Amino acid sequence: MCGIVGYVGRQDAVPLLVEGLKRLEYRGYDSAGIAVQNSHGVELRKCAGKIIGLEQLLGTHPVQGSTGIAHTRWATHGAPNQTNAHPHSDCADEIVLVHNGIIENCDVLRSKLTELGHHFRTDTDTETLAHLIEHAFEGNLERAVAAALSHVEGTYGIAVISSRDPDKIVVARRSAPLLLGVAENGEGATWVASDVAAILGHTRNVVYLDDDELAILRPNGYETLKLPGRDGEGLEPIQKEISHVAWDLARIERAGYPHFMLKEIHEQADTVRDAMRGRLLQEEGTARLGGLIQLESALDVAERIIITACGTSWHAALVGEYMLEEYARIPVEVEYASEFRYRNPILEPGTLVLGISQSGETADTLAAIREAKRLGAATMGIVNVVGSSIARATDGGVYTHSGPEIGVASTKAFVGQLTVLALFTLLMGRRRGMSILEGRGIVSALEELPGLVDEVLAGEEEIRQLASEFQSARNFLYLGRGANFPVALEGALKLKEISYIHAEGYPAAEMKHGPIALIDDEMPVVFIAPKDSVYPKIVANIEEVKSRGGRVIAIHTNGDERLHGKVDHLIEVPKTLELLQPILTAIPLQLLAYHIAVLRGCDVDQPRNLAKSVTVE
Ligand code: M6R
Repeated sequence: MCGIVGYVGRQDAVPLLVEGLKRLEYRGYDSAGIAVQNSHGVELRKCAGKIIGLEQLLGTHPVQGSTGIAHTRWATHGAPNQTNAHPHSDCADEIVLVHNGIIENCDVLRSKLTELGHHFRTDTDTETLAHLIEHAFEGNLERAVAAALSHVEGTYGIAVISSRDPDKIVVARRSAPLLLGVAENGEGATWVASDVAAILGHTRNVVYLDDDELAILRPNGYETLKLPGRDGEGLEPIQKEISHVAWDLARIERAGYPHFMLKEIHEQADTVRDAMRGRLLQEEGTARLGGLIQLESALDVAERIIITACGTSWHAALVGEYMLEEYARIPVEVEYASEFRYRNPILEPGTLVLGISQSGETADTLAAIREAKRLGAATMGIVNVVGSSIARATDGGVYTHSGPEIGVASTKAFVGQLTVLALFTLLMGRRRGMSILEGRGIVSALEELPGLVDEVLAGEEEIRQLASEFQSARNFLYLGRGANFPVALEGALKLKEISYIHAEGYPAAEMKHGPIALIDDEMPVVFIAPKDSVYPKIVANIEEVKSRGGRVIAIHTNGDERLHGKVDHLIEVPKTLELLQPILTAIPLQLLAYHIAVLRGCDVDQPRNLAKSVTVE
């Protein structure tokens, strides 16, 4: 979704900001813009469409300045056109800002400001903020920003510059990510970004802002302050820790792959290794998860776990439900975060709420966690992005350490989530009666897993050929049972989001209750059918599809002869414990979706309408 980058220093900000915007492209956007403050005041350039259009505009209408802010917009209020693109400014074009989030009371504020004589030029909620700051301005930008924000309901990550209080950027956040980049060698530059990828080429030292915090950025440093409440007296200085980002630039580049998605699919043996590193205890037959130390007593008394998430992370949660109930014997419910937060959930003592999120910034998941906390539940996160809002909002958690995921379609993050869920299951199981022998068996199987992931990836060419046979299909059905039912959902999601082919996932037995009506000789049906405890049942479901002329692709276990001759195409995966099988069965489905999308000429890494991180509800 929307992205922010800002720079204040001694160099020309424009090329640095454009580079930063390009690093944010993967998040999805529909317009882009830039503003720099210089001796002429504040100058803006913006356009609808891709960043290349902004670069062309800057080529024909160049600007320069060493203080600047830039933005990629994913439209919420107002059409995705040049007028509504950020940055936005006040009546005199002297106060200019970029904004991520939504100003919920913008209509009321707009009417009041219009009555006071302000002239609005766009359909955006963001413009309201520029006028509010103008209204509050008495010579000092940070005080005007703080005063304006005290009237705002909603969410924001903002960066503001002004020719009336020059050579600084004022930034603030509430429920929208924002971090400061601190120069590594006293280089005389300070950065702000909504995503560390935007500034990683310049610094890996960052300060994560928390909600209701404001910062003033200057070339020689920054100040962090607590925003006052509605009736607050003033801005209180606060000390913030500087964190060092472990990712480097190489991890956000394609490394010779045609798409980030393919690179990320091929990184998955490392994804599993990185999620397990230092966490397996072979002798004790368990896992060590340092981020759960604060939750020890909550884990011991937990009688029920609610897992909440969105999209692919929700599918990982469903696999987690099977894992935790089967191996740790603890009741689990899985709920879409968007439903959980508004459902007035009943959280008895002994309920642990677990949020799963790659980005750690998904608005609904963050709000669900906050609601759970408000209702008194212990909260835990399984998150990829270190220092993200969900990671910081939860009482404890486990990072997946999957590295940056740039492709909009989540692949390695899913595998990282499943690996961490397996570790968490092992830990919970061992605390609740799983034998040491069983625990050791799981540890051994986990250790073998990266090698098995590479075996699956070695089958890519066959999957690519299959993709060419099915690239023109208009619908796909994905069917699985047990823990492979969520894998079917994930396979269908992958296909629809990047190839725009309609696809549905179902528990295989449910097919008879409706979807069977869709089966004909044009309908590809992908069965996830490894040799597990429900295998005989799924073979029966395969027969039902074949007897109605459906074209069956089956993901099955190496060496299993039973499906030979029964289905149209077989994709082999190696055998592992049933607990871990979804980690292997998901991968061919990622490859199938990827190759079909490429053959159909789709924009695999930035599919239409989608954003990488959904920071509005
Ligand atoms: O960052 P999160 O894991 O919280 O994101 C949740 C979903 O938005 C995300 O998984 C989405 O469904 C992806 N496009 C799936 O590929």
